[in-house]
Amino acid sequence: MKELIDKLYKTQTLSPIEFKKLIDNRSPEILKYLFERARAVRVENYGYDIYMRGLIEFTNYCKNDCYYCGIRKSNLKVERYRLSKEQILDCCTIGYELGFRTFVFQGGEDGYYSDEKMIDIIHTIKSSYPDCAITLSLGEKSYDTYKAFYEAGADRYLLRHETANEGHYSRLHPAGMSLENRKRCLYQLKEIGYQVGCGFMVGSPFQTTDCLVEDMVFMKELNPHMVGIGPFIPHHDTPFADFAAGTLELTLFMLGLIRLMLPTVLLPATTALGTIHPKGREQGILAGANVVMPNLSPTNVRKKYMLYDNKICTGDEAAECRFCMQKRMESIGYHLSVSRGDHKSIH
Ligand code: SAM
Ligand code: FES
Repeated sequence: MKELIDKLYKTQTLSPIEFKKLIDNRSPEILKYLFERARAVRVENYGYDIYMRGLIEFTNYCKNDCYYCGIRKSNLKVERYRLSKEQILDCCTIGYELGFRTFVFQGGEDGYYSDEKMIDIIHTIKSSYPDCAITLSLGEKSYDTYKAFYEAGADRYLLRHETANEGHYSRLHPAGMSLENRKRCLYQLKEIGYQVGCGFMVGSPFQTTDCLVEDMVFMKELNPHMVGIGPFIPHHDTPFADFAAGTLELTLFMLGLIRLMLPTVLLPATTALGTIHPKGREQGILAGANVVMPNLSPTNVRKKYMLYDNKICTGDEAAECRFCMQKRMESIGYHLSVSRGDHKSIH
C-alpha cells in the first residue's frame, strides 16, 4: 500500500483499480503514512497558513428535495428565513473587521433571489470590500446567470458534485436532478473563469468504494481549484434519518488522497467533520486540508440552517467562531491567515 501512496505522490494519479485497492486495504499505519506525505505536499504549496472563509447562510428556502438534506423542500418542520441585502452586508462588515477576506454566500435554491437581486448584492459587496473575494454556493444555474454573477464580481463557486456515479446520484436525489447537469454547471463555471469547487459526502447512503473511485477519477478530470468533502450526517426529518453517518477515519483518508492527487487544491476541514468529532477539523488539517469556514451568519438564524443533526457552532457569535478557530489552528502549529487565500494558480 505504501508503494501506491508513493506512486500517487510522484505521479498525482492512480488507476481506478489502484485507488480501489488503496481504499479497501487501508490500515492505521497506511493512514499515518498518507497524512505525513499529504502534510508535506500542503506545506510545500501553502506553508503553515490555513485560510479562513466567512460562511453566510443567507436563505434556507430550497426548491430541491435532496434526500439527505435537512432543509429540503419537503421538510415542513423547518422554520424558513431569508436575509435581506442589509443583513448580508452587516455580516460582511462584522466579518471584515474580524479579518475575513473571503465571504461565502450559501443557500438553498431560492427563487426569491432573482438574478437581478443577486447581482445587486454581489456588486454592492464587491464595491464596499474590493480586497475581498466572493464565493457563491447557490446550486445549479444557467450559463448566462453564472456569467452575469461573475461579471458582477463573484470570484469563486462551490458546487459539490455529490457523487460521480450516475446510479448513486439517482439514489440521493429525486427525479429531475441529474449528475449530467451538475457536471455541466461545473465545466461552465470553469470556462467562465471562476475558481471552482466540487466535492461529495463521505459515507452517504449507498456509497461504495467504486463510487469513491469514480469521485477521484472525476476530480482528476475536472481539476478543480477547491474540493469540499465532509462526512454524511443524518438529519432526523429526512428520508435518510436512519442511515449511519460517514466516519472520521474514511473522511480523513479521502482528504489525504485528494491532497496528493491535487497538490495545490484548496481543501476545507468542514463543519461536518467538526460535528462528528470534537477535534475533527484539526485532524482534517493534519490530513492535508488547508481551509476552514467559520460561520458568519447571524446567530438568530443559525439553528434554522440545519443540514444535519447536531451541527456545531449554531449558538456562537461570529467573533467567537473566528477566535475559537484561531486557537484550534494554533494548538496544532498552524497559522490562521487573513489573506484572500486564492488558489496558487491565481498569483
Ligand atoms: N444549494 C446549494 C447546493 O446545492 O450546492 C448549497 C447548499 S447545500 C445545503 C451544501 C452542501 O451541504 C451540499 O452540497 C451537501 O453535500 C451538504 N449536505 C447537505 N445535507 C448534508 C448532510 N445530511 N450531511 C452532510 N452534508 C450535507
Ligand atoms: Fe436544497 Fe439542500 S435540498 S439546499
